[in-house]
Amino acid sequence: MLKYILIGYGQRGRFYADCLRKLNRAEPAAVCDARQCKLDLAKRNLGLRDGQLYRDADALFAAGKIADLAIIASMDCAHYAQAVKALQLGYHLLLEKPIAQTERQCREIAALAKKLGRKVYVCHVLRYAPIYTSIKEMLAGGTFGDVVTITQTEHVGWWHQAHSYVRGNWRRSEESSPMIVAKCCHDLDLFAWLIGKKCDKVSSFGSLYYYNREHAPEGSGDYCYNCKLKDTCVYNCLNFYTKYPDFAFASGQYLGDGQDKQAIAECFSQESNPYARCVFKCDNDVVDHQVVNMLFEGGVTAQLTMTAFCEGGIRTIRIHATKGFIEASMLDNVIRYEIYGQEPQELHVAVGETFGGHGGGDEKLVEDVVNDLEGGRDSLCLTSIDRSVMSHLMGFAAEQSRVRGGKAVKIR
Ligand SMILES: NC(=O)c1ccc[n+]([C@@H]2O[C@H](COP(=O)([O-])OP(=O)(O)OC[C@H]3O[C@@H](n4cnc5c(N)ncnc54)[C@H](O)[C@@H]3O)[C@@H](O)[C@H]2O)c1
Repeated sequence: MLKYILIGYGQRGRFYADCLRKLNRAEPAAVCDARQCKLDLAKRNLGLRDGQLYRDADALFAAGKIADLAIIASMDCAHYAQAVKALQLGYHLLLEKPIAQTERQCREIAALAKKLGRKVYVCHVLRYAPIYTSIKEMLAGGTFGDVVTITQTEHVGWWHQAHSYVRGNWRRSEESSPMIVAKCCHDLDLFAWLIGKKCDKVSSFGSLYYYNREHAPEGSGDYCYNCKLKDTCVYNCLNFYTKYPDFAFASGQYLGDGQDKQAIAECFSQESNPYARCVFKCDNDVVDHQVVNMLFEGGVTAQLTMTAFCEGGIRTIRIHATKGFIEASMLDNVIRYEIYGQEPQELHVAVGETFGGHGGGDEKLVEDVVNDLEGGRDSLCLTSIDRSVMSHLMGFAAEQSRVRGGKAVKIR
């Protein structure tokens, strides 16, 4: 049976481990997480021995190569060093996005993998989501002619923005990644994949419009638990985390099972808990809205809008081709399309039972990685690093353009 090591037993890491256990075709050799409470959880959930648990990735690497695959699901800032070390030791990688924090680091990982002959699967899970694989197949058939432009909207959502990008781990660009890379490398990757051409230039605008002191309501406190406005504020963390215990758990601050609402409320009433802060008084610096314009080889154009100001959790896409158009939403998994001059059609995409996210893409990626490493079964290898790195180059270029006031940046 395939063996893996897992670094970062957080939301994503736990998901991959659960997924592999369900498949029953891979077993953990070791788990590493910087926090002891996460290791305790891994020990319980995966039935590991103490000797298989590591607080420090260097200590795990010092044990040499003890498995086939290293799953890197730690925070963004740790990816580069851990990926390089794991590749050098002989591991293949399932590497969470973003690949790394800079363009140079992303290119270095890709080059190192190539030089050493290792496989690196990047977690661009949307390439496996049935709605996008269906669109890809429709375009490949040729009936729609040439794709000329694509527009996509990433509806981040007010609650997701507050959780991850205002109070949470991805709130500061330096410590994680620019939001257009952290959140939208998926979207940028879809453009590159569906268009199938090299992106030549990007330009971008965006800012942190709303989640700042300027918009703090008069009389608001620094923390929700003692704020006079908590009964009317939609961002009251006590309401949010008691209503959605999965997010309380995802914050890493609360480790209970979600049943005891009082325990959640207490956890989010501590000033030491960053998720207890007023959303208008955090130390966040990433944007809450951004647009990216892209020019691909041959004059094909694309445009992405990412916004916090919506209900959230969905992506919508519209593809304009010479003989027809396609539009789709991850909300209902319906693809609406029309060949010009013919009646509009609808395709209802089956996503089946999913226990992860991304419209079923998560599980399919994991299964494909196992198929590929085991050999003997068909695998698509849709997200190998050489195919995935372009999205990151586009994201870093978009950020560079945004910071320079929208000046177009060429991708080399
Ligand atoms: N593919 C996707 O769609 C997707 C979705 C969400 C997050 N992500 C990415 O996955 C990664 C993990 O995100 P998450 O939501 O699971 O976050 P998380 O905070 O739930 O989990 C991260 C875990 O890594 C541990 N950790 C952090 N730095 C470490 C280090 N240096 N060594 C060992 N352990 C370390 C933390 O203690 C935590 O348990 C991030 O890079 C994130 O950007 C990808």
